[in-house]
Amino acid sequence: MKKVLILGAKGMLGQELVNVFSKNNYEVAAWDREELDIINEAKTKEKIILLKPEVILNAVAYNAVDKCEENDAEFELAKKINGKAPGYLAKIAKEIGAIFVHYSSDYVFGAQMPNIPEPAGCTGSCGSCGLHAGFEPEIGYTEDDKPAPVNKYGESKLLGEMEVKKYGEKFYIIRLSKLFGKPGTTEGAKRSFFDMMLEVGKKALKSGEPIKAVDEETSCFTYAPDLAKKTREIIESKKEFGIYHITNGESCTWFDAVEELYMQAGLEKVKVEPISGDEFPRPAKRPYFSVLLNKKLNPLRSYKDALSEYLIESGIIK
Ligand SMILES: NC(=O)c1ccc[n+]([C@@H]2O[C@H](COP(=O)([O-])OP(=O)(O)OC[C@H]3O[C@@H](n4cnc5c(N)ncnc54)[C@H](OP(=O)(O)O)[C@@H]3O)[C@@H](O)[C@H]2O)c1
Repeated sequence: MKKVLILGAKGMLGQELVNVFSKNNYEVAAWDREELDIINEAKTKEKIILLKPEVILNAVAYNAVDKCEENDAEFELAKKINGKAPGYLAKIAKEIGAIFVHYSSDYVFGAQMPNIPEPAGCTGSCGSCGLHAGFEPEIGYTEDDKPAPVNKYGESKLLGEMEVKKYGEKFYIIRLSKLFGKPGTTEGAKRSFFDMMLEVGKKALKSGEPIKAVDEETSCFTYAPDLAKKTREIIESKKEFGIYHITNGESCTWFDAVEELYMQAGLEKVKVEPISGDEFPRPAKRPYFSVLLNKKLNPLRSYKDALSEYLIESGIIK
């Protein structure tokens, strides 16, 4: 039985990792803040060396995007949890010969738009390929693109990637975006966008008031159970170590996603108005576009199918 340590085990992703790795062949140690505060480097090292896992999955997160933009002490905390801690976890993993998996974010991108690939055989002059007729490029950030975040949270996640690369050996950095699934089980656990918008939609249906949704920030949703299964698959199929992009298929804006949610959840009568990001100001800037292209793995199903499964499993639709 392989010993696997899951950190952040009560979070949205962590709890799904516990589910997936508890089935066959693994002895799971599921730790959250009560078992180990990963800010304490010495304690972290001591406890992990004592356990000696063969795999360490780090699903711990600081994710208060706006709070750390406005407050210096919060930004320092974000850099500790998202930045420095992954570095020493990777170092500890190296010392005990363990595989280390760390999760990162599409928010490491956004300051520059991704390159639009040229069609094969294009010489760079539009005359040579008929103005790229019929060419529909897949636009997004690849695993090899250079990150450039637009906010401090993104900076803290990028710091984590750099530290893991600097100190780690057998590591996977998995970038995801817009996670959804069952909320974590800690006191401060955040609900996903879909859960929040279901509540808003039910109220709007009663009041008849339209709701507004930002028709920007195009990226892909990631269903936590799908990501957890894919993580196990990557480890078991002994994929090359490095950076991976894992999201569900079909990119969308927040507005597109609300329309899809309300259609599936029987709330299609709720009027949703698309607005620009400027009409919904928040302390931290968001990437206008942050689609992660997966160039290394078989793709996951569409987020629409994953959403149906989530709504059925939560008893919202039959
Ligand atoms: N959520 C998203 O939309 C999203 C998007 C892109 C990337 N990601 C990445 O995906 C990964 C998982 O995120 P998630 O949404 O599942 O996070 P989550 O639900 O917030 O879970 C994180 C868990 O880590 C625990 N934790 C926080 N600080 C800790 C510390 N110092 N020591 C030990 N445990 C601590 C939290 O406990 P408390 O609740 O007590 O703090 C919580 O149980 C993260 O790397 C995140 O950056 C998430």
